Amino acid sequence: MKKQFSGALLTLLGDRSNSDSTIVSELQRHIRELISSGVIGDDERLPSTRSLARDLGISRDTVEAAYQQLDTEGYLVRKTGSGTFVAKQDRIVSSTPRIVQSPNTREAHQTIISLASRGEDILRAGGIVDQTDVHPFVAAMPDIETFPIEVWRQLTSRVIREHGHKLLMYGDAQGYEPLRIEIWKYLATRRGVRCDPDQVLVLTSSQQALSLIGTTLVDPGDIMAIENPGYHGAKLALLAAGSFLKPVSVDVEGIIVSDINDSRAPVRAVYVTPSHQYPTGVTLSIERRMELLDWAHQTGSLIIEDDYDSEFRYDSQPLASIQGLDDGEQVVYMGTFNKVLFPSLRLAYMVLPKRLVKSFITARTLLDGQAPLLTQAVLHSFILEGHFTAHIRRMRQLYHARRDLFMTAIRQHLNAYIDAETPPGGLSVACYLRDGFEEDRSVAIAKSVGIELPTLRRLYLGEPARNGWLLGFAALPPQVAESAMVKLSKAMADFYK
Ligand SMILES: Cc1ncc(COP(=O)(O)O)c(C=O)c1O
Repeated sequence: MKKQFSGALLTLLGDRSNSDSTIVSELQRHIRELISSGVIGDDERLPSTRSLARDLGISRDTVEAAYQQLDTEGYLVRKTGSGTFVAKQDRIVSSTPRIVQSPNTREAHQTIISLASRGEDILRAGGIVDQTDVHPFVAAMPDIETFPIEVWRQLTSRVIREHGHKLLMYGDAQGYEPLRIEIWKYLATRRGVRCDPDQVLVLTSSQQALSLIGTTLVDPGDIMAIENPGYHGAKLALLAAGSFLKPVSVDVEGIIVSDINDSRAPVRAVYVTPSHQYPTGVTLSIERRMELLDWAHQTGSLIIEDDYDSEFRYDSQPLASIQGLDDGEQVVYMGTFNKVLFPSLRLAYMVLPKRLVKSFITARTLLDGQAPLLTQAVLHSFILEGHFTAHIRRMRQLYHARRDLFMTAIRQHLNAYIDAETPPGGLSVACYLRDGFEEDRSVAIAKSVGIELPTLRRLYLGEPARNGWLLGFAALPPQVAESAMVKLSKAMADFYK
C-alpha cells in the first residue's frame, strides 16, 4: 500500500489573513520544499484536496490550484480515482515548464526542457564575446578616453530639460525622426548614400541589423555568400537564421565577385565590408563594386553592405558607398555609431531598399521594439551641433598617428615573425605569420606574458588560407602597444631560440 503523508502539511500556513493567491503560492512552496528535502518521498500520497482544505482552514479551490500547478511542474502526479502522489524525483524538471498546453495533455506538462536545434547551434557556435576592457591587442576597439564625455553630459541634461517626460514614453520603432533625418544627411553628404529619411531604420547595433536580416530575409537552407575571411558576427547571425554560407575569397581588390555564384542554388544575398574589408583591410575596388552591382541586378540578389567604420580612413578619401552607385534597391546598407563614438552607446542604423522598409520595421517590433529614445535624442543634438563631425576629425588624426607608430613598432619588434601591410583605415591590422610559426602556439606564448592575440583563424570558414593575428591599434596609447610588442617579441624569441 502507498504511504500517505499528512502531518507536516497541517502546520504549514501560519497567517491565514493573506489573499487566496498568496496562500496558493505559499502552499506550493512548502510542498515543493517538503519534496525536495525528502520529507515526503517518491510515490507518497498527499491528502485529498477536501481533507487538506479542512485541516488548514482554507478553501478546497486553493488546494486544488496548488496541486494543479505542482502537477504541471512535475512535482506531483494526479491519478483519477486514486489521489495525488509525489512524482519520482527524476521527473522534476523545473518550476517553470517551457511548454504549457491544455491541462488534459499531461505529456505536454512533462516536457523536458531542451533547446531548439537552432538554440543548440547558437550555443555551440559560442556567440560573440565583446571585450569589456582595453588591453593589448584586442581588435576593432575604439579609444574611449578621448570621447567628450562632458559634452555628452551637458547635452543629456539639456535634452531632458527641454523634452521633459515626453522622452520617457515609447518611441517610434523606426527611430526618432529628427535623428533619422541627421543620419540621412550625414550618409548622403559623407557616404554618397541615396535614400529618403524614411528608408533609415535606427537600431541598437550592426549585430542587430544582421539578426534582423536573418529573421526577415533568410529562409532555412538559403545560400548566403560571405567574405572569407570575414566578420564572425555576420557569419554567426546568418548561420543562426538557418542559412548555408558560401565562403567567397578576398584578394587585393576585395571580394572576388566571379566566385559568388553557387552550383547548388541561387545565392540570396552577399555580405561585404567594402570600405576596408574585415579583417584584411583591403578596399573593394570601384571595378569590383560595379561588378557586384551587376551581379546583384542579374541574379535579383541583395548586397549587404556593412560600412562599419568607414569614417576612419587615413591616407585618402573613402570611396562612396555601393548603395549610392545606383538606385540603392539592391543594397541593404548598415553602419554603427558604436565604433565611431563609444561601444556602450548601442545605436546603429540601416538604409533599406524602399520595398523592404515596412517589413523590417514590423520585424523590429518583435525584437526590442525600439532604440532608447533619450539616447537617440542626445545623439541627435550631438550631431546637429557639430560635435559628431569634430569627434570624427579628432579621432581620425589620433588613429592615423597611432597606426603609423604601431606599424613602425611592428617592423622593429615583430618583423621576424609576421608580415603586415599598413591598413588604409580602420582600427586593426591583419598580421600574417611567417613560415615556421603557428597561430595556436603564438597565442599561447602571448598569453603566458599577459597578451591577447586575436587570431585570423576564427574569421575563416573552413581551413584558413593564412594564419595570423588581427591586432587592434586604435585604443592603445603607443607606448603601451610598443612595450607589449617588446614583451611578445622576447617571449617568442625565448620559445623559438
Ligand atoms: C565588420 C563589423 N561590423 C559590425 C561590428 C559591430 O558593430 P556593433 O557594435 O554596432 O554591433 C563590428 C565589430 O567589431 C565589425 O567588425
